[in-house]
Amino acid sequence: MARSTYHIVTFGCQMNKADSERMAGVLEAMGYAYTDDIDKADVVVYNTCSIRDNAEQKVYSYLGKQAKRKHTNPDITLVVAGCVAQQEGEKLLRRVPEVDIVMGPQHANRLGDLLQQVYQGHQVVATEEIPITEDITKPRRDSPITAWVNVIYGCNERCTYCIVPLVRGREQSRTPEAIRQEICQLAEQGYKEITLLGQNIDAYGRDLPAGGIGSGVGGKITFTDLLYYIHDISGIERIRFATSHPRYFSSRLIHACAELPKVCQHFHIPFQSGDNDILKAMARGYTHEKYRRIIDQIRELMPHAAITADAIVGFPGETEEQFANTLKLVAEVGFDAVNTAAYSPRPGTPAALWQDQVPEEIKSDRLQRLNHLVAQTAYERSQRYLHCVETVLVEGTNPKDPQQLMGRTSGNRLTFFAPETGKALDDYLGKLVPIRITSARAFSLTGEVVKTG
Ligand code: SAH
Ligand code: SF4
Ligand code: F3S
Repeated sequence: MARSTYHIVTFGCQMNKADSERMAGVLEAMGYAYTDDIDKADVVVYNTCSIRDNAEQKVYSYLGKQAKRKHTNPDITLVVAGCVAQQEGEKLLRRVPEVDIVMGPQHANRLGDLLQQVYQGHQVVATEEIPITEDITKPRRDSPITAWVNVIYGCNERCTYCIVPLVRGREQSRTPEAIRQEICQLAEQGYKEITLLGQNIDAYGRDLPAGGIGSGVGGKITFTDLLYYIHDISGIERIRFATSHPRYFSSRLIHACAELPKVCQHFHIPFQSGDNDILKAMARGYTHEKYRRIIDQIRELMPHAAITADAIVGFPGETEEQFANTLKLVAEVGFDAVNTAAYSPRPGTPAALWQDQVPEEIKSDRLQRLNHLVAQTAYERSQRYLHCVETVLVEGTNPKDPQQLMGRTSGNRLTFFAPETGKALDDYLGKLVPIRITSARAFSLTGEVVKTG
């Protein structure tokens, strides 16, 4: 008999992608085989995102289709994981009774146990807060070259718009030893690049006991210490990290990034708004002046570093003048990319209850204007690569043109190039290849291989 199959649909951020890889690892260890075709899968997992209302609604519309399939095929198992699952809990079962498991992000490693409960005839809701379990499962990673490595789970900030702390729980740092061990294993398996993940990566170590490696308050380990601690692992060529918080971003970290050769010259530091009153209402804990000082310091030491960010338009009470301050910041800093979003009221967050909500049409008008400016500055920033040689870590082929290979620069720009005559993907995969850039678009580059003798 054919093996049972599974399919996972992942929404949301890198954390969710990392969780999906771990859930896939659990399923494969149980003997399930991956299928591309969701409508044939015996276990269907939706790993959901709740950051904005449209992300949440998407889940319900996809779920509806699978719930229907279950009416003709009662043996399929429907799992809703991730942030909407955590937010909705039992309510989700009431709304879509066909669902078998509702499980929050902290339970990703427990998928196997939860499935056993379903096979015993139960419907399961797993949303209680639990301490992180060190990864007992081997993730099934999507890429053979680059890998996510969680360093801190959860978030203790209380940005007034954000649902993440409510669905991801308190900050929990992994020990430096466990992180190093995972990276060593990745290196042994041939991975070349790692991305260290945390919602607020600068908070790393605050919840760990003092002692051991550390130079933070009271001898605790900081994220900068962690970078030094893992930097020498041989085989790993590149280290990335996300997300940085301007409130905690330290100049020691900037110096470490400049000094440590494997750390990529890319900083993702969301500013959310360029207006100090809005930043205050968001409870972000910094001013736009402080944000600019961070950027200036980065550029002083690493003039070519790529800088990307997130921004929200139409936060409650945002006036046209305050929005103009966001435009001004974007124009003056010159970002390589900015993820932009119209403010979306989220259940349980303070700002959702405020009276001075900005009308939808104003939000979407501001979003459009901001996106236009972002595309323009990204295009201008991209031109600095033109005719230069960039080192690209080759990850695969261009999905839109299989004749071309694809990789990323240290600054995280997607770069396409044709293999040299007589060569193919395998000659380049996982290698750092010098590419002369021949064309620079806003968010990607094209170039040719520089012959190295
Ligand atoms: N931890 C990261 C961001 C996590 S959420 C940080 O502190 O920056 C990713 C992005 O989603 C945020 O940076 C923000 O720009 C956006 N976002 C979060 N809540 C939102 C909301 N209610 N409406 C619109 N965008 C939101
Ligand atoms: Fe949300 Fe703020 Fe935490 Fe980022 S730092 S996840 S925006 S609460
Ligand atoms: Fe979405 Fe949860 Fe990430 S809400 S952005 S998947 S932490």
